[in-house]
Amino acid sequence: MINENLAENYKLQGVYIELTSKCNLRCLHCYNESGSLRGMLGIAEFNNILDSLQEGEDTAVTLSGGEPLLHPSIWTFIEELDKKNFGKKLMITNATLITPQIAKQLKNHQISIQISLNGSCAETHDKLCGKGNFERTIRGINNLLQEEIQERILIRCMVSAFNLNDIEKMIDMLVQKGIRQIDLAT
Ligand SMILES: C[S@@+](CC[C@H](N)C(=O)[O-])C[C@H]1O[C@@H](n2cnc3c(N)ncnc32)[C@H](O)[C@@H]1O
Ligand code: SF4
Repeated sequence: MINENLAENYKLQGVYIELTSKCNLRCLHCYNESGSLRGMLGIAEFNNILDSLQEGEDTAVTLSGGEPLLHPSIWTFIEELDKKNFGKKLMITNATLITPQIAKQLKNHQISIQISLNGSCAETHDKLCGKGNFERTIRGINNLLQEEIQERILIRCMVSAFNLNDIEKMIDMLVQKGIRQIDLAT
């Protein structure tokens, strides 16, 4: 009865789907302790979630993890999303796995890509995300920019005492690259 009333009175406007707990990074701040494989969403479960949503401009679907690009069915999930008329389709990624080939593949789909970057340089970003990962993430961003899909790229930075003094520099660096959307979160 309660469920029926809920369905009548409310409309689910968005979902945030954690495809896998597996991650290639071990960020100090990670809220869900991603890393090793604890679980993986199946294709049928994924489609059930999509089918439970009403299509339309104000419905949003976000793919996250863990690192979503490590899910073996990621391209099936993205193709299933292509079939749906949702206003927002987004994948959150650390971008370290975005090779030129993956960037080309992403260009051919509708999904937008939100990349987590936590500083303007290795000294700041790697303090949180591990050695070598600033360079890997920047390489992934550059590979996407090569595909000229700027309007589908969003950079998200978690602002904390670790990087507060580096935020302006990071914004300058990203704007110079041609990034148009930067989201600062606390
Ligand atoms: C859990 S990650 C999963 C997606 C992907 N691995 C990535 O890092 O972009 C999703 C987002 O949550 C952010 N995040 C993780 N831990 C956080 C925390 N404790 N507070 C705020 N944001 C956090 C990450 O920076 C990232 O932007
Ligand atoms: S890359 Fe994302 S999921 Fe992986 S540890 Fe960092 S914040 Fe967590």
